[in-house]
Amino acid sequence: MAEKSKTKSDIKGIILAGGTGSRLYPITEGVSKQLLPVYDKPMIFYPLSVLMQAEIRDILIITTPQDQPYFKRLLKDGSQFGINLSYIVQPSPDGLAQAFILGEEFIDNSPCAMILGDNIFYGSGLEKELSKARNNAVNGYATIFGYQVKDPERFGIMEVDEYNNVLSIEEKPINPKSDYAVTGLYFYPKGVSKIAKSIEPSLRGELEITCLNEIYLKNELLKSTILDSGYTWFDTGTFESLLDASNMVKTIQNNKDIVICCPEYIGYINEWLSNEELSKRAETFNNNQYGKYLVKVKEKRKVYEQNRN
Ligand code: DAU
Repeated sequence: MAEKSKTKSDIKGIILAGGTGSRLYPITEGVSKQLLPVYDKPMIFYPLSVLMQAEIRDILIITTPQDQPYFKRLLKDGSQFGINLSYIVQPSPDGLAQAFILGEEFIDNSPCAMILGDNIFYGSGLEKELSKARNNAVNGYATIFGYQVKDPERFGIMEVDEYNNVLSIEEKPINPKSDYAVTGLYFYPKGVSKIAKSIEPSLRGELEITCLNEIYLKNELLKSTILDSGYTWFDTGTFESLLDASNMVKTIQNNKDIVICCPEYIGYINEWLSNEELSKRAETFNNNQYGKYLVKVKEKRKVYEQNRN
């Protein structure tokens, strides 16, 4: 694995990819939702790419016990992307905040980001926003990301003032105070496992991420970023949003002749994958459309670096 040239402080990442997927039955009766295709790649590649864009290299994948072998078969140890992957199971879907208790040993009292395995983010300014959230976490603050939705009763909802200070957060409110959904991407400073352990299960029996965020809010340690109309966010929890996400990816990729949320591309521009490692990975795709893109990635890095400088 190529060594990264820049030194970054330690921050861990978790992808929570368990749950029953029952809203998508019968599609998910035989396969995990987060392994379903979203256009040309498995759903989990999208959240994985977000953590990699945040320059997080140590990532824990949490799945159901029965699905873990399939995630391991797909993602292996992560070295094909230049990252280190670990795996644990969540025996039953007892809530999003449980991830920090199950992952306590992995987190090892570092700052930690978590993303839901069914959340898709895209936007050209994302890297900058992720970097800010990462710095917040290193400096002792949590960060949540808001996105305007038309069906706020389906989500955690945040109320913000004109400076984007969070005033309140509510889980699936009947009378939402705003239409800004709290997306499934969260950054926390060190100590998150201890705080997660202090939460009581909600009426529906889950350790709610909203309760965790409320603790940071109460302690004035919660920052927010609003992802405006320049960004796209999908929680692929319904038949419609699953299809919409695939169509969005297809449209962007065809218009721009790129592959978005491509972990090999991000690993390469982050200098975690060498030329040889990228070429070896491209060969495994037998010159299909995805493999041909990986061959072109070296050229793309030159353009990326010119734009960045
Ligand atoms: O997508 C953003 C929303 O995610 C937030 O706005 C909400 O505040 C948050 O509670 C969550 O709401 P959902 O209704 O989407 O949560 P759901 O139970 O569907 O779980 C989201 C994903 O996490 C789903 O792919 C299954 C997985 N999951 C869920 C639970 C409860 C787990 O892996 N383990 C769990 O224990």
